[in-house]
Amino acid sequence: MSKRFYITTAIDYVNGAPHLGHAYEKVVADVIARSRRSFGEEVFFLTGLDEHGQKVEQAAEANGQTPQDYCDRLAIQWKALTQHLGLSVDDFVRTTEPRHQAVVQAILAKLHAEGQFYKTTYQGWYSVKEETFLTEKDRNPDGTWDAKWGQVNELAEDNWYFRLGLHQAWLIEHLESHPEFVFPESRRNEVLGFLRAERLEDLCISRPRARLSWGIPLPFDQEFVTYVWFDALVNYFSVPAALGDKSALSALGDYYAGKPSSLSIWPADVHLIGKDILKFHAIYWPIMLRVIGAPLPRQLLVHGWWQKDGQKLSKSTGNVVDPEAVIQEWGLDAFRYYVVRELGIGPDGNWTDGGFGDRYRSELANGLGNLVNRAISMLNRYRGGLVPVPHQELAPDALAVVEQATQQLRSFDLQGTLQTIWKLVNRANEYVEQTAPFKLARDPAQATRLDEVLYNLVECCRILGVLLWPFMPQTADRIFAQLRLCDAPDRWSLARWGVLEIGHQVGTPVPLFPRKDLAPAVEAKKATAKSV
Ligand code: ME8
Ligand code: MG
Repeated sequence: MSKRFYITTAIDYVNGAPHLGHAYEKVVADVIARSRRSFGEEVFFLTGLDEHGQKVEQAAEANGQTPQDYCDRLAIQWKALTQHLGLSVDDFVRTTEPRHQAVVQAILAKLHAEGQFYKTTYQGWYSVKEETFLTEKDRNPDGTWDAKWGQVNELAEDNWYFRLGLHQAWLIEHLESHPEFVFPESRRNEVLGFLRAERLEDLCISRPRARLSWGIPLPFDQEFVTYVWFDALVNYFSVPAALGDKSALSALGDYYAGKPSSLSIWPADVHLIGKDILKFHAIYWPIMLRVIGAPLPRQLLVHGWWQKDGQKLSKSTGNVVDPEAVIQEWGLDAFRYYVVRELGIGPDGNWTDGGFGDRYRSELANGLGNLVNRAISMLNRYRGGLVPVPHQELAPDALAVVEQATQQLRSFDLQGTLQTIWKLVNRANEYVEQTAPFKLARDPAQATRLDEVLYNLVECCRILGVLLWPFMPQTADRIFAQLRLCDAPDRWSLARWGVLEIGHQVGTPVPLFPRKDLAPAVEAKKATAKSV
């Protein structure tokens, strides 16, 4: 069986409720996964939860629960979000699952046997919030610690270390010879700049059990658990291994008892991550894989961070966007559309409720929704819902859009793809204004012209359904349902002109994006204005 296109997201810390940033990343990954399926590729799409470490242990304690109970309870909410976002995931990993822990331990045992780790005493400073050791370099010029480290404690303790430093030269070489490895380029330059300027410190891969018990025990030293990042990164690899992927199994050798299957997943094609966790993915992870003896992932896609109203998302100040609430109020596809249309993969973004409402009204309700509604309504009104003889007038416009959208989608320019698709939405709406089918309908001599116009409009709607499926699967399905097509819109190859056949009976139109009432505050103002 050929290797699947394998895409992953970061696995989220289960120490709170999901927010806009988490939901954005998952939607972007889903659009990519669906687009590859639509192109006819087999896909494996993985997401999940990062459940070990001090942050989770402390959050559980604060909630008066055991870490496992706490994780189990929150995992329900996070898994529900996966559904509510319409994610076409193939698996959902939790790092507390035995299937994951077994692979982490196999890797640790193998690397230990090969002499990759050493034990030594560390004396110095430790950030609980970031679960990391600090050096004098991390201090502010005035000797204080930056707020980002949270509480900083002085420690002296034994730990196990991984010799990262040995790998600096080949990793630089790998980044230089694989320019696509980190996207966008500014992020690649950030990693290369760091690797060229700094000496890589060895990585502490353990935490003493006496201080932190919530982790995977080191198989070769029961006094320690595994450092949470060493554990978490392995999720991308442990799931393929657990499913019997041969490439993963062969790297683990005798250290892991797994049965090979026909699934071929590893290496990952895309790890989608946020900018704050670049170092872990661009430095630690490739070095870990190299030492494990597994092929490296093809690409890291690094997205920016969302703010709301120009401020950091923050639970304590209440500056948050709750994806579940937005979906409840506006519908899933409006949320998916807005986040992907507003923010490409790379820069930071800013959520404003006003900006959301504007795009909803102009691009979804008045743009796409209006087009589909008018096209199907007019075909019903003037032709009893029967598709007229095929006609080519908008075919060149549609095909140019399909071609450009295909290229953009292949290169993960999701925002650009939506802009391109809207060229067809706008072209078709403009065509309605130009051809004025309501006038043609009044003149029997224009019957053929009306047929032509109606064909062009409904065929554009059908093609839009196909192009939109990766982004807005429900909307795409609804367009196809209203056209009464039995095919699903999930195959890109259907985005060609002339598929609707003469005599096909379409269904009845239902608004895709109902116009929203104005906000109550605005209504109240208007009412007062009227009464005076
Ligand atoms: O870092 N805007 O988990 P996490 C956009 N468990 N993206 C954001 C964001 C924002 N405001 N806030 C967070 C972790 N993210 C680790 C990952 S992977 C082996 C382990 C993104 O819950 C963030 O950049 O803190 C990351 O990609 C993801 O959400 C999970 O963040
Ligand atoms: Mg984080």
